[in-house]
Amino acid sequence: MERVFVTRNLPGPALDELRQAGYQVEVWPEFTAPPREVLLARVRGAAGLITMLEDRVDAELMDAAGPQLRVIAQYAVGLDNVDLEAARKRGIVVTHTPGVLTDATADLAFALLAAAARRVVEGHDYVRRGEWKTWHPELLLGPELHGATVGVVGFGRIGQAFARRARGFEMKVLYASRRPKPEAEAALAAEHVGLDELLARADFVSLHTPLTPETHRLMNAERLARMKEGAVLVNTARGKVVDTEALLNALEHGPLFAAGLDVTDPEPLPADHPLLGHPRVVVTPHIGSAGLRTRRRMAEMVTHDLRAVLEGRAPKHAAVLP
Ligand code: DGY
Repeated sequence: MERVFVTRNLPGPALDELRQAGYQVEVWPEFTAPPREVLLARVRGAAGLITMLEDRVDAELMDAAGPQLRVIAQYAVGLDNVDLEAARKRGIVVTHTPGVLTDATADLAFALLAAAARRVVEGHDYVRRGEWKTWHPELLLGPELHGATVGVVGFGRIGQAFARRARGFEMKVLYASRRPKPEAEAALAAEHVGLDELLARADFVSLHTPLTPETHRLMNAERLARMKEGAVLVNTARGKVVDTEALLNALEHGPLFAAGLDVTDPEPLPADHPLLGHPRVVVTPHIGSAGLRTRRRMAEMVTHDLRAVLEGRAPKHAAVLP
């Protein structure tokens, strides 16, 4: 029986189906990630691994598993925690979950935009503290969504799905990406601009780039300072795309009105972190893809692809196919 190690439990029936298919499936039972030493010991002898974005999937881990390791199925679209080159060198297939989580993530990005701009969480806290004494024309004013200009940084699947939502709110869409995307541009009446122009013109900026050496701290002090006065920043990509210190500074002393963050640096964010003390920062705990249906479908994707590799078929969502 081939062994599969899964670094967290997955929603839905996918893991049971894997067991029924004759695999010995071991699941890390705790809610938090396995400590590194434990992970290195538990992967030993596995033919397949199902990993999460918090697991460091590097050469050391692959070697700790042993030469029978043939597939790493990442339960995420992002692969910045996986050393793809190390996998390629060892002939290990790496799969991931593109496409399935596009809409769930775009939904959350838009929810964060609306919540941060219209001060939903701040308003809720205000009511909960018993401070709501009266209606007042100046209570909790925030920037309007409809008719605003939104800047989408990274115009892949999720960026475009986010732009579709923005169009539904009658927003003008600017986008910055390495290459123009004429089809999506036409469908969304979007305008391809450079990042500097986008930052100068957009009332809302939403980040949808993968984390790479080029996008690491893309939103640094200089770029945050170039944003439009009263702008709102939304990040559902990766925390390290934004310089956290610079973000705080841009909120306190710079042009930013608010921020909606599903990803942070550090992640998780400690409860006493200054970002959480800022009234106009809305933070969710990296739940972009956490739709009920989406997370089950992600589980199906990783288990189907893992089985495909172990049974000698081509996986559908390979990032590395040696
Ligand atoms: C991803 O897939 O990369 C998300 O960040 C988690 O679903």
